[in-house]
Amino acid sequence: MASDHTNSFRVALCVSGGIAAYKAAEVLRGLQQAGCTVRVCMTARATEFVTSLTFRALSGAHVITNDYAPDNPDPIAHITFSQSVDLLLVAPATANIIAKFANGIADDFLTSTYLAANAPVAVAPAMNTTMWEHKATRRNIEQLRADGVYIIEPDAGEMACGTTGAGRLAEPARIVATAMEILHNKRQATSTPLLCEQNLSGERILITAGGTREAIDPVRFISNRSSGRMGFALAEAAIARGALVTIIAGTTTASLPTNASIRTVHVTTAAEMHAAVMREIEHATIFVAAAAVADYRPTETVREKIKKTGATLTLMLEPTADILAEVAHKRRHRGLLVIGFAAESHDLVAHAQEKLTGKKLDLIVANDITQDGAGFDSDTNIVTLINSITHTPHALPLLSKREVAERILDEITLLRLTTSTQSASAVDPSNAAPHASDLSQPAQTKETFATKQQHTHTSQT
Ligand code: CTP
Repeated sequence: MASDHTNSFRVALCVSGGIAAYKAAEVLRGLQQAGCTVRVCMTARATEFVTSLTFRALSGAHVITNDYAPDNPDPIAHITFSQSVDLLLVAPATANIIAKFANGIADDFLTSTYLAANAPVAVAPAMNTTMWEHKATRRNIEQLRADGVYIIEPDAGEMACGTTGAGRLAEPARIVATAMEILHNKRQATSTPLLCEQNLSGERILITAGGTREAIDPVRFISNRSSGRMGFALAEAAIARGALVTIIAGTTTASLPTNASIRTVHVTTAAEMHAAVMREIEHATIFVAAAAVADYRPTETVREKIKKTGATLTLMLEPTADILAEVAHKRRHRGLLVIGFAAESHDLVAHAQEKLTGKKLDLIVANDITQDGAGFDSDTNIVTLINSITHTPHALPLLSKREVAERILDEITLLRLTTSTQSASAVDPSNAAPHASDLSQPAQTKETFATKQQHTHTSQT
């Protein structure tokens, strides 16, 4: 039974017996801080690693370890427990539990609950590397995938047994983010809005929009076909959700948003956009770089109009500052979420992943500019969203730019819930936020670049 949109999500957190069982407490806290109501069940082995009292204290509810126990308040708990939740999350999931799930064995409360579940199921495996890589486990994992179970891949690293390799329980923040993504997608699929209308109140969002113009001479410039529509749609959607919005608008052809509360700063060049962003960024809690900023500008602007001579003309270009990367690397203050776009013509996901990690972003919105209905100067877009927590590409269909903006803001809201979960979670102090301030990055090196131009009026991208 799914909760309605005014209620929080209900999650059954199932803990099986492994050394990582203690991390389930952090998962529980993370889910609660993301607004979920969590009930816990444990296998008998799990209670040897962590007591059920820990989870009872954290969840505020009876923890089921044995449904035959006299203190169990519900005589058919495996049915009510599994059919009154929006998600069954098993973390950690041992090799034994995975094998039982894969084969339909129901010999205790957790395994019976799995068979009786009519909600989505996600498992976060944790085990020794050799067990994880064993052919039997590989087979069982593939069987679970085929059965529609979400697998939250384990991390690689040093294991409790002293070996190094894959099999360590995924970081609790990643487990929580994946669980929220599953819940979110499930709710979207049933067309029930997840997020309340004012879910960005208190946020100050700074958005770059449009293109830039880099002058070659008094009449010619380098620019691109960006209309500003995507940035403006984001601004309108964000203000409707209660955020304070500032746009740094380059050259645009779309109509500016009409909402008088949206502040707009007009700029022309990449350097002006850079200066405006650096001035405004300290007041922002979210930065979205939707502008198509020129990557190169002429090394000099010729004061007089260049005359036609009939010969070829070489323009010397130099790189502009990457505004987005600079904000993410050097100007990120605590809690600032940084979102970038990636306009690609090939290998969309690979290039977007590179930009996500290379520029240290929280979210990247990638679009294949070769597809009809996507990209520049269009009312619609086809984008893939990838966040820095799950790194899972989420491809959206052809949507209006306003609808794309709403989906981006949904994702931002989830990221905000997850990052505040991480900073509020004191269970493991070494669990730093995924992109905390990093002031140690070297400044970009400046290169020069020469290109032969037949025409002086060119367009970027
Ligand atoms: N961006 C920026 N400043 C620049 C160039 C790009 O802030 N000087 C931002 C854009 O607003 C966008 C993101 O960086 O959010 C990616 O832009 P894109 O042109 O796709 O990628 P680049 O990093 O410029 O790389 P390339 O052009 O080689 O794909």
